Amino acid sequence: MALKQHKDEKVRFDQQVDNSRSYVLPFIEATHKLGGGVNVMEIGCGEGGVLLPFAEKGCYCVGVDLNPLRIDIANDLLKDEVQQKKMEFLYKNVYDEDFLLRFKDFFDVIILKDAIEHIPDQEKFIPYLKNFLKPGGQIFFGFPPWYMPFGGHQQICENKFLSMMPYYHILPKGIYKGILKMFGENKDNITELMEIKDTQISIERFERIVAASNLKVIKKQHFLINPIYKYKFGLQPRKQWAPLTYLYGLRNFLTTCVYYTVG
Ligand SMILES: C[S@@+](CC[C@H](N)C(=O)[O-])C[C@H]1O[C@@H](n2cnc3c(N)ncnc32)[C@H](O)[C@@H]1O
Repeated sequence: MALKQHKDEKVRFDQQVDNSRSYVLPFIEATHKLGGGVNVMEIGCGEGGVLLPFAEKGCYCVGVDLNPLRIDIANDLLKDEVQQKKMEFLYKNVYDEDFLLRFKDFFDVIILKDAIEHIPDQEKFIPYLKNFLKPGGQIFFGFPPWYMPFGGHQQICENKFLSMMPYYHILPKGIYKGILKMFGENKDNITELMEIKDTQISIERFERIVAASNLKVIKKQHFLINPIYKYKFGLQPRKQWAPLTYLYGLRNFLTTCVYYTVG
């Protein structure tokens, strides 16, 4: 059962804006000033809604995505801000040489909100992001840890049973794919779910890559209930019970979202 926001881009955009205004921006602003003269990039920006509250604060915002349709939607929904040169949206691979040349040492803040779990080879990608940061710049990551009940993103399934079943994404790849096929899930969803299975990222693996990239954790927050679930399931966001955040391994199974700022 795909959720409404999986089909309706304006609904998705409005949810991005509201969630960013209430959670993402305050989290980032706790450790980095925002406003005029601050350059912000979101990688995997989708429809661009996460960036709007940053633009409203006076930041210059660049959104990048590998999905050209979503970039078109961002350019359309935010055409006034784009025309006023407060924002730009690019269908671009951040590894492209011209992109690196243009934006080397340019950004104060880089945002990856529900994106890092879609990006392969995070051991190469996370240290590469440092190329775009000004000295003192910070990178925000918000993502669902792989082992959480819906860490496979199975909620995108058209089949209601598949979309509501927790944890089966952890099964071996062949079995997981077999289950998806058996229940008649469509090809595109299976491809996307298999890509996410390949890039799976746990809390421990993420923190290891950050340390190996010579980046330090500046601020972190683990959530029992992901703030975005307010829109998806009508649930009130809840921070994780503090002692559980220290239980390595186990915490992944019961933490639906983590926010980190590193730099
Ligand atoms: C789940 S959406 C998140 C959109 C938005 N950040 C939000 O929080 O609603 C993930 C987005 O990341 C994009 N993406 C995946 N890999 C990417 C990459 N290597 N570079 C840029 N964007 C990427 C996808 O096209 C998709 O739009």
